[in-house]
Amino acid sequence: MGCLLDGTILKTLIVYASRYGYTSDCVTKLAGKLHGEVTTVNIDKEKTSDLEQYDNIVIGGSVKIGKIQKSVIQFCETNKVLLLKKKVAFFISCGDQNHMQYLNGAIPEELLTHALSVQSFGGEFKTDKMNFIEKKMIDMIKKSTVKEGKSLPVARYENIDIIAEAINQ
Ligand SMILES: Cc1cc2nc3c(=O)[nH]c(=O)nc-3n(C[C@H](O)[C@H](O)[C@H](O)COP(=O)(O)O)c2cc1C
Repeated sequence: MGCLLDGTILKTLIVYASRYGYTSDCVTKLAGKLHGEVTTVNIDKEKTSDLEQYDNIVIGGSVKIGKIQKSVIQFCETNKVLLLKKKVAFFISCGDQNHMQYLNGAIPEELLTHALSVQSFGGEFKTDKMNFIEKKMIDMIKKSTVKEGKSLPVARYENIDIIAEAINQ
């Protein structure tokens, strides 16, 4: 599995950003489900190179106080023309059920329309990488979320399979 007709191996790049590690964990799971050769790049720590070599490019990040990482937005803007020539999918980690509110306006509309799939991986509060202020912020977010009758972030690992299926087709 994961070969083109001429026998060359399909190549997928997953470009992502993760503040506290939940998205990184999801990327590891996604990479394990994709056919062919998979390269993962945490865009806040490493550079991407020679994007032309990839057949598929999957892009994702996480939301903090209403915003996805700037590095993810910048990657999409800089590489828009190239991305429109590839099989592309997007994912986002967030607590809110309406994940599109964070992508619309941040990621070029043409790219979102071009994407094979745009999914939410849900979210998790991973406190081990948080500082004191961030932990306090979590307590406040949890209280106000419950007060407003909204649900706290839940992992939606099933949507990792949806992205994998779309890319593996
Ligand atoms: C300080 C903080 C602010 C957050 N703000 C939002 C938000 O505005 N909207 C939302 O849907 N989720 C929000 N979340 C939930 C995160 O998107 C979720 O925990 C996600 O799993 C984080 O992924 P990461 O660990 O890869 O950064 C917030 C989480 C934290 C810790």
